[in-house]
Amino acid sequence: MFAGFENTYSKFNDFSTSTMKSEPGRRTVDASGTGDCCDGCAALVIAAGTAAAVFRKSRRSIGRDSTGSGFAVLAAFAVIGTLKAPPLQIPKSPTFVPSPRVAAPLIVLVAAVVTLTAQRAAAPPADGHALYERACGSCHNGDDPRAPLREALAGRSPQAILDALTSGSMRYQGLTLSGAERRAIAQYLTGRTVRGSVTGATAGRCVKPPMFTEPSASPQWNGWGADVRNTHFQPGPQAGLDADRVPRLHLKWAFGFPDTTSAWAQPTVAGGRLFVGSQNGMVYSLDPTSGCIAWAFEAHGGVRTSVSIGPIGPGVARAGRRYAAYFADQKGYAYAVDAATGRLLWSHKVEEHPLVRLTGSPTLHAGRLYVPTSSYEEGGKPPGYACCTFRGSIVALDATSGDVVWKVYTIPDRPTLWRTYADGTEVGGPAGGAIWSAPTIDVKRGAVYAAAGNSYSGPAQPTTDAIVAFDLKTGSMRWAHQLTPGDLFGCVPGEINCGERPGPDFDFGAAPALAALPDGRDLIVAGQKSGVAYGLDPEHKGAQVWRYRAGGGSGLGGIQWGVAVDRTHAYFPVVELYAPEPGGLHAVDLATGRRAWLAPPAPPVCGKPTRACSSAQFSAITVIPGVVFSPSNDGAVRAYSTTSGAVIWSFDTNREFTTINRVKAKGGSMNGPAPVVAGGMLYIGSGYGAFGLRPGNVLLAFGLD
Ligand code: HEC
Repeated sequence: MFAGFENTYSKFNDFSTSTMKSEPGRRTVDASGTGDCCDGCAALVIAAGTAAAVFRKSRRSIGRDSTGSGFAVLAAFAVIGTLKAPPLQIPKSPTFVPSPRVAAPLIVLVAAVVTLTAQRAAAPPADGHALYERACGSCHNGDDPRAPLREALAGRSPQAILDALTSGSMRYQGLTLSGAERRAIAQYLTGRTVRGSVTGATAGRCVKPPMFTEPSASPQWNGWGADVRNTHFQPGPQAGLDADRVPRLHLKWAFGFPDTTSAWAQPTVAGGRLFVGSQNGMVYSLDPTSGCIAWAFEAHGGVRTSVSIGPIGPGVARAGRRYAAYFADQKGYAYAVDAATGRLLWSHKVEEHPLVRLTGSPTLHAGRLYVPTSSYEEGGKPPGYACCTFRGSIVALDATSGDVVWKVYTIPDRPTLWRTYADGTEVGGPAGGAIWSAPTIDVKRGAVYAAAGNSYSGPAQPTTDAIVAFDLKTGSMRWAHQLTPGDLFGCVPGEINCGERPGPDFDFGAAPALAALPDGRDLIVAGQKSGVAYGLDPEHKGAQVWRYRAGGGSGLGGIQWGVAVDRTHAYFPVVELYAPEPGGLHAVDLATGRRAWLAPPAPPVCGKPTRACSSAQFSAITVIPGVVFSPSNDGAVRAYSTTSGAVIWSFDTNREFTTINRVKAKGGSMNGPAPVVAGGMLYIGSGYGAFGLRPGNVLLAFGLD
C-alpha cells in the first residue's frame, strides 16, 4: 500500500538506515531588545522555520509520492487494545512529505508565532483551513459517518478541540501536529481565539536571566538518570536535601504549559538553569529559583525527553567552553541548542520511518549523544497499514556536529514481506524492539545497555523484551538477555505474521540502572511491565543474579517508567491499573534481591478510587540519601523513608496553580518523569491526559526557606 513500494520489502526499509541532516536555515529570532524585553534581558529565543526546512526537503523527495494526495486513513489501535482510538492519518510515503499546498501556510503560521513572541503581536492568523483539510477533512467532511461533521465541531470551544487533540480520542492525530498547528485548527473550526500565547513565553520572562555557568560549579541533575548509569540517585551534596529537611518542602513557584494536557517531560538542572520540554513542542530554559523564562525554543513536535547539557566541541579549555542542550521530539528529530541562548546548533532526523517517535531520553556521554528510537507502530497506526516494519535502534551522534557515528538495531534482521492480501494490505516482519527509555552507559566495560520492547510482528526475536548490550565505540551487539520470549504485540492476532493471541505486552518503559554494590561489583537492575524486577550481571552477558516479583504485570501494570538504586537498595514503583489494588513501592536488597520493605499504595487523594483516580505508581522515581520520591496517578507526590518505607512528606497537586508565565494550569495524574532534586529544590510536572487518566499541565518547584 505504500507508493513506490514495488513489492520489495527490504527496499521499503532502506529509508530507515540513513540519517538525514535537517536543512540548515531554521529561523532563529532573538527577541532581546524588543519592546517587551526588559533591560539586561538576555535572549528570549524562539527558533522556528521548521516548516520551511521540511518543505524544502520535501521538494527534493517529492518524486517518491504524489504530493498531498493519498493519505492513509484508518483506525488506530490504542496501546493496550482495550482503548480504541480513531484512526491516524499518515502520509503513504515513508518520508514525511507535506504538499506545497500545505507547507506554504505552515511557513506563514510559524513566522506568525515568531512575531507573536518576539513583538507582542496579535494572535497568529488562524490559517487553520489548509491544516484542517489536510489532517481532518477526510473524516470530518462527511466521509466517516462516525466522525462529527465540521459544523458540529464548530459548536465546541477551541479548548475542547485542543483537548481532543492532546488527550482525547483524536490524540494520535494531534501528536502529528505542532502546538501552533493544533491551535490554528481549533481557532479555524470554532472561529474563536484561544487566549494567551501558544508558546507560553510572552509573560514571565526573566528581567535579568541567570547567567549560564560551568555546570560542575553548581548542583545539577543533568539528563534522564541523574547520571549516565541511570541510577536516579542524587548524592547528598547535589541534592541539598535530607530526611530531616524534606518534610519542610513547600511550593515555591509553578509554571504552566499552554495548550497541553500532559506534563510529560522530566526537567534538567544544570549551569544555574532549569531546562524542560513540553507536549506542544516548546523547550524552556528557566531560572530554577524563580521559574522565570530565559529562553524558549520551538521543536518540530512535542518534546517528552529530558534535556542533557554538555560542552560544545571537545578539548576546549574550561574557561572558553560553551554548552549545548540536547533533546529529541515526537517527530524523530534530535537537537542541540546553545544552553545559554537557545539558539539552534543542529537538528537531525535520526530515523525516517513514518511512525517514528522519540520518547526515551537521549544519553550524552563523552562527546556522543545516544538517541533511542521507538514508534507509533504498536499503538497509533492506521488499519491496512503494512505492518510491521519498525525496528528499535540506538543512533549514536557526534554531539558537536550531529553526524551519525553509528546506528544499530535491536533486531538485526530487516523485515520481509510475508503476504499481500487481495485488498492490497501487506503484512511482514520481524519488527519491534522499540527502546522507550534512556540508554545506560557502562564506562568500565565500554558498553551501552538498552531495554528493548516487545516484538510487533513475527518471527519472534530473541532480542525483544530484553536487556541488550552494545559496544560503546562501534555499536556492535555484545549480548542480549531476553526476559519474556514470544511477546508479539501490535500485529493482528491470527494473521500470518502474528500469533493466535496477542502477547502480554510485557515490554520495558524503564531504563536499566547500573548499580554499584558495596563489594565493588556492578549490577544491572531492570524493572519490567511484567511486574518482575531483575538483577543482572554485566560481567557475564547479563546473567541473572536475582529476580523479584513486584506485581502481576500487564500493558498498564508492573514497572512502567523507572526504577532507582542507592548504595543498598533497588526501588520499584508498581502500577497494576487493572488489578483491584495498585502495587505500591518496593525496596529490595541490592545484593540479594530480597524484599527490604513494601510501602502499600496510599489511599488516593483525588477522591473515590477509580481507574483515573488510583494510586498506581507509573512514574519514574528518585532517591537521595534517606528518601525516595514517588509521584502517583492520584496526583500526589510522596516522599518515603529509605529505611522504613514510611511516608514522610506528600503534596497534592490536584488543583489550579497561579503560574509565573500566566498560563492557566492545574495538576492531575502523574505518569512519566521522576521528581528532580538539586540544590535544595524539588521539581515535578503534573498531569497526564492519555489512557483516560486525569489531564494537567503544570511544572511545580518546591524548596525550603
Ligand atoms: C481518520 C478519521 C479522522 C481524522 C483524520 C480525524 N478525526 Fe476527529 N474524529 C473521528 C471520529 C471517528 C470521531 C468520533 C469518535 C470519537 O469521538 O471517539 C472523531 C471525533 C473528533 C472530535 C470529538 C472528540 C470528542 O471527544 O468528542 C473532535 C474535536 C475531532 N474529532 C477533531 C478532529 C480534528 C481537529 C482533526 C484533525 C486534526 C481530526 N479530528 C481528524 C475521525 C477522525
